[in-house]
Amino acid sequence: MKILVTAGPTREAIDPVRFISNRSSGKMGYAIAAAAAHRGHEVTLVSGPVSLQPAANMNVVNVVTADQMRLAVRRHIRWCDALVMSAAVADWRPAATAVKKIKKRNRRALSLKLVPTVDILRDVRALKGRRIYVGFAAETGAPEKDARRKRKEKGLDLIVANNVSRQDSGFETDTNRVILLSADGAREAWPLMTKARVGVRLVRWIEQQMLVRLKKVHDKR
Ligand code: PMT
Repeated sequence: MKILVTAGPTREAIDPVRFISNRSSGKMGYAIAAAAAHRGHEVTLVSGPVSLQPAANMNVVNVVTADQMRLAVRRHIRWCDALVMSAAVADWRPAATAVKKIKKRNRRALSLKLVPTVDILRDVRALKGRRIYVGFAAETGAPEKDARRKRKEKGLDLIVANNVSRQDSGFETDTNRVILLSADGAREAWPLMTKARVGVRLVRWIEQQMLVRLKKVHDKR
């Protein structure tokens, strides 16, 4: 299979030296990409700025901003059989980026006007076809309820709900605790495990899903 994975944060520039971003380390996305490559799939990893070293057996596209990530995903979407959006894409960016460093001198406050970034999953929704789309939902409130809503709104086959308010899961940790909510209504709550293990199990879920699809196509003939 050809699997397109996104990982890490995006950065949205305020001026040449400052940006807004989030705490994503890229560990979850890199673990999924590594698991997929290890299981013999062709992998393209679209990575935001992180300090991780990708495995040699995959195609890596480095990006910085949400818009660059969107363009990279669009460029590879027709190539892939499955898309896994584990990146923590910035939802907002400054309306304007200052060309020169904003000076602190004589300023008592600085207001930033933020505008929404384009939602990448919504942007490629019309190109889904038979592809498997997997999203993640980083939640601090009611993870399942909000994740279910996001899965529907973004037209995903699966959403991986991530409670990011726990110390042992979510951003930066080596472990994760996730709940899988799929389009057929199935729910799987996985116990705390390493992100490497989550990666392997998620890739297996995608493989299984692909087999079911292929069988359906075969049976129709
Ligand atoms: O990188 P780590 O430190 O290992 O942390 C892992 C993680 C917490 C970042 C990861 O497990 C995770 O939860 N990733 C999704 C984070 C997120 O942006 O969630 P969201 O609920 O804001 O977005 C929902 C989905 O829409 C995600 O699949 C996201 O990639 C996608 N999205 C979001 C914004 C946007 N502009 N375009 C998108 O496609």
